[in-house]
Amino acid sequence: MQQQALPRHIAVIMDGNGRWAKMRGLPRTDGHKQGAEVFRKICRYAADIGVEYLSFYAFSTENWKRSAQEVDAIMDLLRHYLNEMEEREQENEEGGYRIRFLGAREGMPPDIAHLMDEVEERSKDKTRMFVNLCVNYGGRAEIVHAARALAEQVQRGELSPADITEQSVSDLLYTAGQPDPDLVIRPSGEYRLSNFLIWQSAYAEFYYDNVLWPDFTPADFDRAIEAYRNRDRRFGNAK
Ligand code: IPE
Ligand code: IPE
Ligand code: MG
Repeated sequence: MQQQALPRHIAVIMDGNGRWAKMRGLPRTDGHKQGAEVFRKICRYAADIGVEYLSFYAFSTENWKRSAQEVDAIMDLLRHYLNEMEEREQENEEGGYRIRFLGAREGMPPDIAHLMDEVEERSKDKTRMFVNLCVNYGGRAEIVHAARALAEQVQRGELSPADITEQSVSDLLYTAGQPDPDLVIRPSGEYRLSNFLIWQSAYAEFYYDNVLWPDFTPADFDRAIEAYRNRDRRFGNAK
């Protein structure tokens, strides 16, 4: 069997931060801090090897269920990261990332939502690699959002229900215009999607790894890609 080409779009569920911290007798927040460092490292590595689209699950619509203390700490980290991006403009310039935040802005602290808009705007002409950061993201909420938009178009008489296609739904998702993920990586030994890119990952290849996200290295990333390259993608075709 011929090997697959390098995946164009890789999606990563950054999981295991809490367990990583707990194993070290540290507060969960320290795990999130370390996880953010690993996020940066993997971004740089992926851009170096030529990945075009890289998506990260950072905070789900379900993660609001956590203690106020943990949620606040995660929001503080995000705020810090967004502010730093301005300072890291130079690095970002070299990295050439076009950054998008996928998820509902409503419900986010307003200052963070504003910073997200700014970062997206500043990076909009970068072309080296697309980086999607999924924050306050839920796959079901995303589909509901698209369904509402379609219903409104129908109500205004602009669209006939018979003309709704898979493409019309895709075009209303946060990932509109981007290729679907080819490979979804989940570290930390959990075997589930947890509401991540559920529409877009319909034909993705899944790779699970026991390593906790804060320990995840470029070598682990390579192993996931290598596994992907040896998969036989059929998309429903006969062999
Ligand atoms: C992933 O790590 C980060 C977020 C969900 C925000 P976790 O915090 O879920 O870590 P575990 O799964 O408890 O180890
Ligand atoms: C998924 O991890 C969300 C993120 C990594 C941001 P969770 O830790 O929230 O998922 P579950 O609860 O184990 O399914
Ligand atoms: Mg988790």
